[in-house]
Amino acid sequence: MGKKSTTVIIAIVNKGYIDQGEKPMLDMFLDSFWVGEDTRELMDRLLLVAVDQRSFERCKFLRLHCYKLELILDEGAVDSNGEKLYMSNDFMKMMWRRTLFLGDILKRGYSFIFTDTDVMWLRNPFPRLSQNESIDLQISTDRFNGDEQSEANQLINTGFYMIRSNNKTISLFDACSAGIAFKEQDVLLNMMRAGVFRELGLEVRFLDTNYFSGFCEDSKDFRAVTTVHANCCRTIVAKVADLMAVFHDWKMFKRSSTNQTSTSRSWTNHKACRDSWN
Ligand SMILES: *[C@@H]1O[C@H](CO)[C@@H](O)[C@H](O)[C@H]1NC(C)=O
Ligand SMILES: *[C@@H]1O[C@H](CO)[C@@H](O)[C@H](O)[C@H]1NC(C)=O
Ligand SMILES: *[C@@H]1O[C@H](CO)[C@@H](O)[C@H](O)[C@H]1NC(C)=O
Repeated sequence: MGKKSTTVIIAIVNKGYIDQGEKPMLDMFLDSFWVGEDTRELMDRLLLVAVDQRSFERCKFLRLHCYKLELILDEGAVDSNGEKLYMSNDFMKMMWRRTLFLGDILKRGYSFIFTDTDVMWLRNPFPRLSQNESIDLQISTDRFNGDEQSEANQLINTGFYMIRSNNKTISLFDACSAGIAFKEQDVLLNMMRAGVFRELGLEVRFLDTNYFSGFCEDSKDFRAVTTVHANCCRTIVAKVADLMAVFHDWKMFKRSSTNQTSTSRSWTNHKACRDSWN
């Protein structure tokens, strides 16, 4: 297991991100690399993992780096420890398959950034991610508790994280796929609350929403914001609508960014997402 020098960027796509909304979410995601600052060259490192044929074909059509994740699972499926799996539905099987795949990337010696496709990359995140080699996991939060090192009341979100390849993180992913009785996000949160991070000796840094922003808690600073996640939102259609407003806000900011007085700008309300819960 050799250490690979580049950090890959991995996003998982399914046909919902191709076919739903005023504009496909995948297109919004890719556009963000175009409108973002110092983000264009990051496209070379982006690996799109397609979980169905339609999104795989779309990926190839866009001439990106594409990988088709085959979901070959049936009644007799067993996990890597040879245990029989009883997973309730296709969603759980998919989450399990994803986790195995990502764990496999770590086992091959690659560190990576995982990003959901409803995360807009408005700036290159690397300057805002710690380069300290002893930090294993840097993960976004729905609400940031104010302390990058404190687990207490930290609402982690697996929509964006950077993870280093090492024994601790490989163990973490093994534990995740073993415990996938809940959706992945909750598995990780439950493991954190049960003290698994400490047991593994995992060094975790929780990412401040001022930089790694989202609809749950907006960044207060357009000069610092790096990514914007359409979290706290129920439907893809609503996410797309509100992310279009984010692009609009961002473009207005960029247009005025030479103007030193324009600091009190705020984001358009995420109305479609708020209404998506009703
Ligand atoms: C790197 O992170 C570790 C763990 O949080 C910390 O103990 C160490 O001081 C950090 N090193 C530097 C150079 O910041
Ligand atoms: C990871 O575990 C293997 C096997 O236990 C061990 O040989 C190796 O030194 C470990 N690597 C690190 C980076 O801890
Ligand atoms: C900067 O912004 C202020 C307040 O919005 C405005 O009054 C001023 O004309 C702007 N200056 C320039 C050079 O755009």
